[in-house]
Amino acid sequence: MAQQHVLLHLFSPFRLSYSPISNRPISPLRRNVVRLLVALLVLVGVYLYQAGSPLFSFPNKDSPSSHSKWRDYSLAQAANFVAKNGTLIVCTVSSPFLPFLNNWLISVSIQKHQDKVLVIAEDYATLYKVNEKWPGHAVLIPPALDSQTPNDFGSQGFFNFTLRRPQHLLQILELGYNVMYNDVDMVWLKDPFPYLEGSHDVYFTDDKTGIKPVNHSHDLPPPGPNGMTYICSCTIFLRPTHGAKLLMKKWIEELQSQTWSKSNKGNDQPAFNWALNKTSPQVDVYLLPQEAFPTGGLYFRNKTWAKETKGRQVIIHNNYIVGFKNKMKRFHQFGLWLVDDHSLESPLGKLE
Ligand SMILES: *[C@@H]1O[C@H](CO)[C@@H](O)[C@H](O)[C@H]1NC(C)=O
Ligand SMILES: *[C@@H]1O[C@H](CO)[C@@H](O)[C@H](O)[C@H]1NC(C)=O
Ligand SMILES: *[C@@H]1O[C@H](CO)[C@@H](O)[C@H](O)[C@H]1NC(C)=O
Ligand SMILES: *[C@@H]1O[C@H](CO)[C@@H](O)[C@H](O)[C@H]1NC(C)=O
Ligand SMILES: *[C@@H]1O[C@H](CO)[C@@H](O)[C@H](O)[C@H]1NC(C)=O
Repeated sequence: MAQQHVLLHLFSPFRLSYSPISNRPISPLRRNVVRLLVALLVLVGVYLYQAGSPLFSFPNKDSPSSHSKWRDYSLAQAANFVAKNGTLIVCTVSSPFLPFLNNWLISVSIQKHQDKVLVIAEDYATLYKVNEKWPGHAVLIPPALDSQTPNDFGSQGFFNFTLRRPQHLLQILELGYNVMYNDVDMVWLKDPFPYLEGSHDVYFTDDKTGIKPVNHSHDLPPPGPNGMTYICSCTIFLRPTHGAKLLMKKWIEELQSQTWSKSNKGNDQPAFNWALNKTSPQVDVYLLPQEAFPTGGLYFRNKTWAKETKGRQVIIHNNYIVGFKNKMKRFHQFGLWLVDDHSLESPLGKLE
């Protein structure tokens, strides 16, 4: 990238005539020599460009050959390319959520963990777009969803989208990687990895809004009055252990046994909670601290609490709000929309 810029500047006549050297009057002979050199450089540049030199590896926007390359890119290849130290950070994204992906990715980059991010694209547009800007960091596990419009929480589209999450995570565990899953309507304020204490099978956060003591237990919380826990399926860290795989298999089973209907507003979270309940003695779990990983229902809605705990949050989740526009507006209001001012810090740059 840096090399390209240097070359482009060299070729720019604007750049030459305004460089400090050309402020001095120069002899016609020297001017001719300079002209000749510039012409030569241009010729060499054109030659290199046509010869497909890596110096000129401009993203080839709609090249069918790069499309077919990414279509055939498998999860195993992608994981092998992206993982660092046996660990991957993954998210699943469809086109309408690209701005949120970028926002999240900027925050991950600020914590210097972007290298191990693998975007699981849910449609081909996302696969091509991410890989065009950041080669190798997106993979599509067929079949692709046809999702041109944002799918709001509670809609069937959203349910379809989340259904495949445990399947993807299980595949990654079977390949032998540690995996951190995040929804993309999140922002990292600190590095979460030091908070993954001990060597448990799975780490997660509570989505309940009730305030807990700072020294709350890290066990699975007791079920609420309706007999259910309310663990979030939004931040999950898994080690490639028997227990973690068992949990993912149970989650898939629970999802398959329920069907979506307008009345139950299906999403994958209840199934995750039932899976945690049913595998409870066999899986070693760790509930992350509430102060550091609060639900959006607490962080955004209780300003007193947010103020009291300021500086101790690690990941903020923009949930407990419905709709793409509302989420974006709230991130803006709380100074968590990083896309406008920090796009240079994203491996995707500005996404237009
Ligand atoms: C790599 O992983 C090991 C074990 O999980 C950990 O102790 C170490 O700090 C990690 N190294 C880096 C560079 O992240
Ligand atoms: C969700 O999946 C079901 C079953 O595969 C399908 O019939 C339906 O059209 C999908 N809906 C959306 C909005 O993607
Ligand atoms: C938390 O701290 C309080 C007061 O120091 C103590 O009584 C309580 O047992 C602690 N709870 C846990 C789960 O450690
Ligand atoms: C599992 O759910 C049942 C029904 O709500 C509850 O009685 C039981 O305590 C739960 N088990 C665990 C380990 O949370
Ligand atoms: C909001 O947070 C404050 C401070 O932690 C707490 O005292 C209060 O009960 C909370 N309010 C609600 C509605 O949960």
